[in-house]
Amino acid sequence: MEEVRMEKLYEGKAKIIYPSSEAGMVRVYFKDDATAFNGQKRAQIAGKGAVNNQIASALFGYLEEHGIPTHFVRQLSEREMLVRQVQIVPLEVIVRNRTAGTFARRYGVEEGRVLPKPLLEFSYKNDALGDPLIYPEAALALGLLSEAELERIRALALQINTLLKDYFAQRNLELVDFKLEFGRLADGRLVLADEISPDTMRLWEMGSGEKMDKDRFRRDLGGVEEAYQEVLRRVQGL
Ligand code: CDP
Repeated sequence: MEEVRMEKLYEGKAKIIYPSSEAGMVRVYFKDDATAFNGQKRAQIAGKGAVNNQIASALFGYLEEHGIPTHFVRQLSEREMLVRQVQIVPLEVIVRNRTAGTFARRYGVEEGRVLPKPLLEFSYKNDALGDPLIYPEAALALGLLSEAELERIRALALQINTLLKDYFAQRNLELVDFKLEFGRLADGRLVLADEISPDTMRLWEMGSGEKMDKDRFRRDLGGVEEAYQEVLRRVQGL
């Protein structure tokens, strides 16, 4: 059901947050807008909002079924989901299974090398500073989160990685890396928030290594819409 449009609470690069008539909830609207390289590259990817909403809804549902607390309540319409309102912890949590992207460039290694174990990286969510990489100790020193929250986030991120790797492997896709954000509910409990979609993950076709994610847009590889649609087909297909 499409709820009546209300004043937006917040507009980000790919999503808009609207109030909900349900207490403690907000609506997330997924746009077709795509940005890369800290917003320097911008375009519209036709249908992306609807595809990402459906993929993210399915993934949040799967994670919830496997005991991961998330902000997700239910999908409302093609481009909207209902979520619990949270206060976002200002960290981007990146989980890497193979070298790619910024990590490969920063350390001068080829993409695709399998890491001996999943690696967690943290960036400070701060647009003015360009989301710099941050040591967990620095995040604690800045008071961005508590020590208990940091340990909980580490444990949840690794569990989510195991679950998602398995989920995509069953769909012939390799989960290379992805970004997570966590939020605090009113009672302080941490939940997985934001979105999980081909905008925030690297997914490679098993065998061929073909890119099925936002790298098709970042690197002008073409077939962006088709790749997102194909991921959705596989998410729905099992
Ligand atoms: O993607 P990029 O090379 O800019 O940075 P990365 O650190 O290699 O990204 C690791 C993973 O996190 C990729 O799957 C990105 O799509 C995702 N990411 C994201 O969703 N949002 C960001 N602000 C940064 C990374």
